[in-house]
Amino acid sequence: MTVNAELYRRIIALADLVTPMAVRAAATLRIADHIGEGGQSLVELARCTGARPRPLGKLMDHMVSLNILDFKDGRYHLTDMGSVLRREGTSPWPFEQLDIDGVIGRTELSVIRLMHTLRTGESVYHGMYGTDLWSYINGLEDADDALSSQSQPELAFDVDLLMDHPCWRTASTVVDVGGNTGALVEALLARYPDLCATLLDLPAFAHVARQRFADSGMSDRATVIGRSFFDLLPEGADVYVLSSVLADWDDASAVRLLRNCADAAGKDGRILVSEVCLTEHLQRADTAMALWLEAAMENPDRTVEDISILAAEAGLSVARVDRAPTRMVLELY
Ligand SMILES: C[S@@+](CC[C@H](N)C(=O)[O-])C[C@H]1O[C@@H](n2cnc3c(N)ncnc32)[C@H](O)[C@@H]1O
Repeated sequence: MTVNAELYRRIIALADLVTPMAVRAAATLRIADHIGEGGQSLVELARCTGARPRPLGKLMDHMVSLNILDFKDGRYHLTDMGSVLRREGTSPWPFEQLDIDGVIGRTELSVIRLMHTLRTGESVYHGMYGTDLWSYINGLEDADDALSSQSQPELAFDVDLLMDHPCWRTASTVVDVGGNTGALVEALLARYPDLCATLLDLPAFAHVARQRFADSGMSDRATVIGRSFFDLLPEGADVYVLSSVLADWDDASAVRLLRNCADAAGKDGRILVSEVCLTEHLQRADTAMALWLEAAMENPDRTVEDISILAAEAGLSVARVDRAPTRMVLELY
């Protein structure tokens, strides 16, 4: 069989790893900011990035071939595309995932373990780090700094479905289980002035959340606990929220977590399971992102019915279900 050279070239181009890593390395070194308006020589770029001149020169030449940089009169200059990579004056920087020194950039590299997901069904993070993403981040030596310096995730994906839930009208206490660095608690406390919250997350996330509540003057209404949600949860709150948490866990762990919430909530508390559901939309529009979510989570596609079955295994019943295009909220008791 003769190989069609053009198709061969296209397949190899699709599978290239060098260019994606080169763009990420250039972003991590902040090449665009160092070049700025006036252009920069290789020697000067090596000095201000701390990179070795010879490999840096190869990186710069590849950036020129990609039309991210121009090379004129012994200096590299930004093209229109290269200018977009500048961070200074752009807040939040829209390419945070390209910075290999940052939390998101580091975790994105786990996609090289896609085979692990395909062979085991576990997330790529297990293949890369031997543990789940959150334990890995929590265990980083610079976890607090890394989490504080990245831009805080926005509340998105039809979050109003959760924010407007009728149970907030009567609740005076909430535990946000896996509450990350506090965005949801902050929004709930701002919206419902009589509500007090406890955020529980792994210690590094809890540390950043505590700082956040101190900065926003909410510490008197927001308590923070840094420990695993598989250990004991604070008892007796009116509402326990699990927002975008269950998707990271296999069925057995999800049931364990729901049971933990049920024990803490007792007979009077309610549990709100709020999951973001994107696959249906992405499968039509962005198959790469759908594949990434599959690789990054244990179960990105659970339906209301799937969660109801897990809830029943944990001894919980469904009181109410709300749906929006990218989110579902189940109220359990
Ligand atoms: C996808 S994030 C969801 C964050 C937030 N609830 C939201 O709606 O955006 C999952 C959260 O679960 C936390 N988490 C993971 N494992 C945990 C554990 N064993 N104990 C406590 N929190 C954990 C993570 O640190 C992370 O903040």
